[in-house]
Amino acid sequence: MKLWGGRFNKDTNELMKKFNNSFNIDKRLYRQDIKGSIAHVKMLGKVNILSREEVDKIVGGLEGILKDIEDGILKLEGDYEDIHSFVEAKLLERIGDVAKKLHTSRSRNDQVAVDMKMFVKDEVLNIVLKIAKLIDCLIKKGKENEYLMPGFTHLQPAQVITFRYHLMAYVEMIKRDKKRLLNALYLLDESPLGSCALAGTTNEIDREFTAGELGFRCITQNYLDSVSDRDYIIEILSAFSILMMHLSRLSEEIIIWSTPQFRFITLSDEYSTGSSLMPQKKNPDSLELIRGKTGRVYGGLINILTVLKALPLAYNKDMQEDKECFFDALDTVNICIDVITGVIDTMKVNKEEMLKSLKKGYINATEVADYLVKKGVPFRDAHEIVGRIVLYCEEKNRSIEDLNLVELKSFSKDIYEDIYEYIDYLNILKKGNKKYILMEVE
Ligand code: ARG
Repeated sequence: MKLWGGRFNKDTNELMKKFNNSFNIDKRLYRQDIKGSIAHVKMLGKVNILSREEVDKIVGGLEGILKDIEDGILKLEGDYEDIHSFVEAKLLERIGDVAKKLHTSRSRNDQVAVDMKMFVKDEVLNIVLKIAKLIDCLIKKGKENEYLMPGFTHLQPAQVITFRYHLMAYVEMIKRDKKRLLNALYLLDESPLGSCALAGTTNEIDREFTAGELGFRCITQNYLDSVSDRDYIIEILSAFSILMMHLSRLSEEIIIWSTPQFRFITLSDEYSTGSSLMPQKKNPDSLELIRGKTGRVYGGLINILTVLKALPLAYNKDMQEDKECFFDALDTVNICIDVITGVIDTMKVNKEEMLKSLKKGYINATEVADYLVKKGVPFRDAHEIVGRIVLYCEEKNRSIEDLNLVELKSFSKDIYEDIYEYIDYLNILKKGNKKYILMEVE
């Protein structure tokens, strides 16, 4: 069924048909499309454009189509231009000519705009729930493994932190991702339905009614904007991109931690793969794929930004390109959150290896300098003294706390027995604002 054709003498070229059709992609919107149509028809009844019987027939037909699709009886296949034509064609087959009244005071421009907004609302809310689970998983893993660990700058050992505190940094990042998505959901929550093609309709329709039926916060204010606004897709893809960047950074860290050189964590076999050649290999493919797939989500964002950048108002067919990149990014984000949650949940954290690494990294050197400052040594001099201590330790292959008092005093007469307590790794975390690194103070 074609939704247009009256003013055409020739059939569409087959190649053009293939090029133009979006059914294979936008069939994912079937639920939203049917629900949007049901609300629209009820509204047409309310304002007396359709009779009660007509409304009942059309609504019944649409509900039947939705049920049959969900039950797998009606397949989303066939030679249709888009999901809108599919639904209308099926309705016509099922209830006859009254189906032709469905599209009164509506265009596919406001129809697709409302469908897509509803779809984004449903799907992004689901992502937000998954993000909450990931946050819970990170918090739990951290609580169970509050072990001392070296913190890094330049990927060089810097100062003592805890494994939990490192994970909690990601919790903060991912909490912001959640807020960004919720904010975008709030902004997009305005119904464009009733804007029609670009300039409304001469019929007295009730846009507030359809907005309420479909669960929108309010209606959009300008018809031209309503049918050509894709800001929310940009915003969500941007929030997805930032989220993926965070997941990619976390993946990269876990990959590094899982190397034999670090051994901070051991990945579960469930989320690792082997090599066809090297029998000893256990590779972190799960995390590498998350890192790798980040690029396609960025790609989606650049895609939609580029599609929209020079479009005149109002609707242009270019906008049809919003779906493929959005769906792909959505699917990617969905599976990546699930996989990283699984990886974190099942990985083993190696307390002893992190302790060993602490000792090798002279990670309490800053605190030795702080100690000297407390004893009255100017910080610059203290820095120099500790630098020499580290050099000595490096030559002797020892850590600072393993030096005896005579050795330490040879670098500064201001070092006393109480140094050992001061530079104990756990004690360090009990002083100053480092207190907030430990769980009790969360
Ligand atoms: N498939 C189209 C899209 O996704 C639906 C809107 C078509 N509107 C039109 N004027 N041809 O953008």
